[in-house]
Amino acid sequence: VVAAMAAERALAMATCTAPVNIAVIKYWGKRDTDLILPINSSLSVTLHQDQLKTTTTAAASRDFTEDRLWLNGKEADVGNPRVQACLREVRRLARKRRGGNEDVATLSLSYKIHIASENNFPTAAGLASSAAGYACLVSALARLYGVEEELSEVARQGSGSACRSMFGGFVQWQRGERPDGTDSLALQVAPETHWPELRVLVLVVSGDKKPVGSTAGMQTSVETSPLLKHRAEVVVPERLAQMMRHIRERDFEGFGQLAMRDSNQFHATCLDTFPPIFYLTDLSRHIIALAHRYNAHHGHTKVAYTFDAGPNAVIFALADTVAEFVEVVRRSFPPATNGDQFVRGLPVGSAALSQELVAAVVTEPVPGAVQYILHTKPGPGPQLVDDPSQHLLGADGLPRSRA
Ligand code: DP6
Repeated sequence: VVAAMAAERALAMATCTAPVNIAVIKYWGKRDTDLILPINSSLSVTLHQDQLKTTTTAAASRDFTEDRLWLNGKEADVGNPRVQACLREVRRLARKRRGGNEDVATLSLSYKIHIASENNFPTAAGLASSAAGYACLVSALARLYGVEEELSEVARQGSGSACRSMFGGFVQWQRGERPDGTDSLALQVAPETHWPELRVLVLVVSGDKKPVGSTAGMQTSVETSPLLKHRAEVVVPERLAQMMRHIRERDFEGFGQLAMRDSNQFHATCLDTFPPIFYLTDLSRHIIALAHRYNAHHGHTKVAYTFDAGPNAVIFALADTVAEFVEVVRRSFPPATNGDQFVRGLPVGSAALSQELVAAVVTEPVPGAVQYILHTKPGPGPQLVDDPSQHLLGADGLPRSRA
């Protein structure tokens, strides 16, 4: 009994990291807004955490007097219903696992918790992803409470797209049929090692602020867009099967074509929403046209764009295309020479562009429109951080001062 008493844990802490994902078959629209059940399945590529990741530390202590949350060092509302939903669901799984036997060596589920979360990329870049954030929160909480179950169903209740960040590589969010959402979960289609040549370029555009958030925007679309209904019922089921095949076969032509078409149809449903929602900007259209000119010049699909509910462009390409296309982007959007790195992330080689390529592809340069390019690739799912020096909370349960 004395030994068990000694094993009682006054403070417990767990830290995880989680990735951003970019959909190539888009999720847009819920059939249940409380449980976050989508009207269609979706499919995404998980991006590598060396370039984009969220880190979250969750701590529980008998000495904490209230639940608290810090995002990028600033205190935030822990009462947020989506944060609360994740907390409730992880605790529910923990309780189930313990089968009611609260022995003193296990962490009490009644202790208050502190959570700190931060991104390794600037929030201002408009890359701040709720997907990585909720995937990370759920991973850290699960670790804290010793839950090992499949957790995409829990992450989904933080943000729909977050369920896809629970796996690496190529991930499907299966819409499911059940009203309770127990079959609306993420499944890995292929691991991150499946397509070693695949690369991702995030074109971070200058100026941000999305006009309408995804949550509100997609609800208006569900209520008003007949195109969205047709998309969910007819188009997506066919495309999902096609996309899985292109990925399995590493068919960039098919993958790229379909990714572009699906991004375009998502934005078409936004225009079909009433009143309409606009996420694409003049710059997005410029980048779209550039990609099509580049592909036309080469006579096949070398690059594929996709856009979410914000202004940044995400480009898929194979490794042997990256250097040339980055040079095309640099020529098309000459960077302000303020010393900032224009190309970040994975190294990019240099490429000389032929006269014909420049003449055919680089029309009307727009200086400074693209702030920088982040070069990344598919990566793994959430990771446990073992090194205690990496915890975002100190022994007092408060955020460590950051350098
Ligand atoms: C355009 O997952 O952010 O990025 O479920 O309301 O939190 P909520 O929405 P969210 O929507 C993402 C929409 C999208 C497409 C996608 O990622 O599939």
